[in-house]
Formats: sequence, structure tokens, C-alpha cells
Amino acid sequence: MRIDIITVSPELIKSPFEHSIIKRAIDKQLVEVHFHNLRDYAVNRYGKIDDYQFGGGAGMVLMIEPIDKCLTELFAARKYDDVIYMTPDAQRLDQQCANQLSTAENLIILTGHYKGVDQRIRDAYITKEISIGDYVLSGGELAAAVLCDAVIRLIPGVLGDETSALTDSFQDNLLAPPVYTRPADYKGMKVPDILLTGDFARIDIWRHEQSIKRTQEIRPDLL
Ligand code: 6GU
Repeated sequence: MRIDIITVSPELIKSPFEHSIIKRAIDKQLVEVHFHNLRDYAVNRYGKIDDYQFGGGAGMVLMIEPIDKCLTELFAARKYDDVIYMTPDAQRLDQQCANQLSTAENLIILTGHYKGVDQRIRDAYITKEISIGDYVLSGGELAAAVLCDAVIRLIPGVLGDETSALTDSFQDNLLAPPVYTRPADYKGMKVPDILLTGDFARIDIWRHEQSIKRTQEIRPDLL
């Protein structure tokens, strides 16, 4: 997979790609991530990329021209499965959306800032708009990093244990069951007996029951 991220703050978004599972996926060449600084496509030599909105109102809007230039350059080089715009006024990211994007070959992610981007960019080029939740962030960069993490870990070969993405919370619309490790008794706080029996069929059933119980208690809307 190749992901091109268009942003006004490449520095803000790079760090999550330099650690842990995502870094390993890049090192293993299972994914390539390229950052494009919108300022490199500015409309003048002062680096202008945003302007006041027509009709008045507070906040700057990212201009159509720098984004159009950057997209045109990328489109000339390869075909993209989706051009995603990160914005709070969109459908919320969920596991199903991450699963679907994980099968893509090439993705563009555009991150907004200030009041967002000129609507004409959204109308002409954007194929998917994604929010990561019902709250407002200062920019789409952190949201883009969240999306990339959710997608990249699903690419075959990224997780060491192939089954482990399948047993995540949400893959079956249930929250994950509780997990424990040694010691089995810490200051009188005991691990559930069932997990020490070695009876893996019964353990599977117990885990499933725990998942349902947790989901009922914490996220009944998922059921
Ligand atoms: Cl994608 N962007 C911003 N700025 N805020 C958000 C968001 C995105 N998703 C939730 N809040």
C-alpha cells in the first residue's frame, strides 16, 4: 500500500510513523507513506495557502489552487483508490471503514486546518470524508495519523500474529474480553480460575461471554 498525506504540518504527523508497529510495517515495505507540505504548492513566494472566506466570518480557508496542484501531481503519477478528506463534519471512522481501506493499493489523505478547505476541492476530488469522533481537533493531522494506524495494522503481514487483528475489539462488533498475565495471584487479586484450566474450548466460551457482558455494560449501542 502507498499512502500520500497532504498537510500544512508534516512535522505534526510524522512521529507516529516512526515507532512500533507502523514503523515496522514501513521497514518491511508493506506500506509506503509520503508527506506533502501544502506550502510547497503555495500561490505566491510568501507561502500563501489560505484566505478569508467569501461571505465573511471568522477563520481562514485553505485555497483551492495549492491543493489542486498537489493532487494533480499525484494523479499524474498513479491511480488512487480513494482521496480522503479528514474533517469533523463527516461520517465517523469505524472498524468496517478501516477494514475496507486496508485493501486499497494507493490512498491520498488530505488534512484540513483552520476552517477547512474550499468546498470545490471536496466536490471535485474527494471520494471519502472521515471524522474520528464527535469532538473538534485543531487540525486533521492527528486524525489522519489515527486513520493510518487503524488501516496499516490490518495489512496482511503487519501484525506478527495473523489472528490478532481478528480478535480485536470491534472486529465482531464486541468489545475485547479482559486479559491477564503472571502472576496468577498478586496481593490476593486473582486471575479467573477458568483461564488456568487449560481447557481452551471452555476458555473461548468464557471470553465470548465476557465480551458480550462488557459490550452490554459499556457500549450497548454496538449490540
Ligand atoms: Cl478528521 N478533523 C478535525 N479537525 N477534528 C476532528 C476530526 C477531524 N475528527 C474528529 N474531530
